[in-house]
Amino acid sequence: MAELVALATIHDIPEGTGYVAEVKGKSIALFNVDGTIYAIDNTCIHRGGPLGEGDLEGEVVTCPWHGWEYNVKTGISVNNPSAKVATYPVIVEGETIKVEV
Ligand code: FES
Repeated sequence: MAELVALATIHDIPEGTGYVAEVKGKSIALFNVDGTIYAIDNTCIHRGGPLGEGDLEGEVVTCPWHGWEYNVKTGISVNNPSAKVATYPVIVEGETIKVEV
């Protein structure tokens, strides 16, 4: 069952950057796009690259391994719209970032 889990604080993820957190056996990538936090699976569906370590440009992150790009709001691959990573609801309470996992 999904539950809200505290994964980071707003200080961990400055605007325009990503962050990786492990929870419940999953690796989750968090991104700060203009002050709003988004959460997607950290694992690129190409060959498993760590999306949370990729460069964030606007709302698009580039996988650091071979350059696949994903929209962090939708999880959908920019290059191949039929490919998608999971997205997770995010709630910010005070300075704490919680994700429904
Ligand atoms: S593993 Fe992400 S682009 Fe290849």
